[in-house]
Amino acid sequence: MEIKDVKLAEAQGPVLDAIRQAIYEHGVALFRGQDDFTPEAHIAFARRWGGIDINNYFPLTADHPEIAVVRKRADQVTNIGGGWHTDHSYDQVPAMGSILVARTLPPSGGDTLWAHMGAAYDALPDTLKQEIEGLEAYHTADHIYEEGGLYAQTDMGRDLRGQSITTGATHPVVIRHPQTGRKLLYVNSAFTINIVGRSREDSLPLLQRLYDAATAADNTCRVAWEPGSVAIWDNRTTWHLAMNDYQGHAREMHRITLTGEPLAA
Ligand code: OGA
Ligand code: MN
Repeated sequence: MEIKDVKLAEAQGPVLDAIRQAIYEHGVALFRGQDDFTPEAHIAFARRWGGIDINNYFPLTADHPEIAVVRKRADQVTNIGGGWHTDHSYDQVPAMGSILVARTLPPSGGDTLWAHMGAAYDALPDTLKQEIEGLEAYHTADHIYEEGGLYAQTDMGRDLRGQSITTGATHPVVIRHPQTGRKLLYVNSAFTINIVGRSREDSLPLLQRLYDAATAADNTCRVAWEPGSVAIWDNRTTWHLAMNDYQGHAREMHRITLTGEPLAA
């Protein structure tokens, strides 16, 4: 959803509470024309929202360690987030969400898509809902960031001291949103490896049925970025995907990750 007539650099109190609630429910909010949303304003807004998670993977800006730079250089082929995913599902206490600011945009392309996991869950056939009731799944990012993995070409996969990072977490396949209580599908094709107690091979057919349902067109929305655009999303309510359709051009976004809480069925 798009929220108009708000200056994020100044939003606080009841305005901030209303923004928060809208994002918990709708999953993502877009704010255009935020030309005064400087890195300092970005950090100050995130602090007013709540805790900031400093990213372990992404190159950070030296002046503002709270901000991770999501960058694709003109000569890079792989982008960050090019498949459907939810950020940090491989953490046992996953990030609540992110505040993403457009800084350098390609001449065209580079849109971001979101899919609503509450709508996705609601639309599942009853038999499938019963089949996944009470299941848990294992998530990790190790296969993506390791040598030879999908992101080996990006500036990622090592912590700030150059050490490789390992991750792993288990979460219910269906969680309840910590604030709204709505049931949400919480598996994703980027980081979910298997259903707990089953091999990956045995898990994949069921996971694939869930993934196919999750990205049905009427669960999704698409944002075409402009200078001054800011998106804030909830990682529990949504998946997202960064289109990689601007080869030969650079794209740079600034991201602050908001602290989350443990998830439960
Ligand atoms: C992210 C991400 C999407 C984009 O920052 O987590 O997936 O469009 N970004 O850059
Ligand atoms: Mn992402």
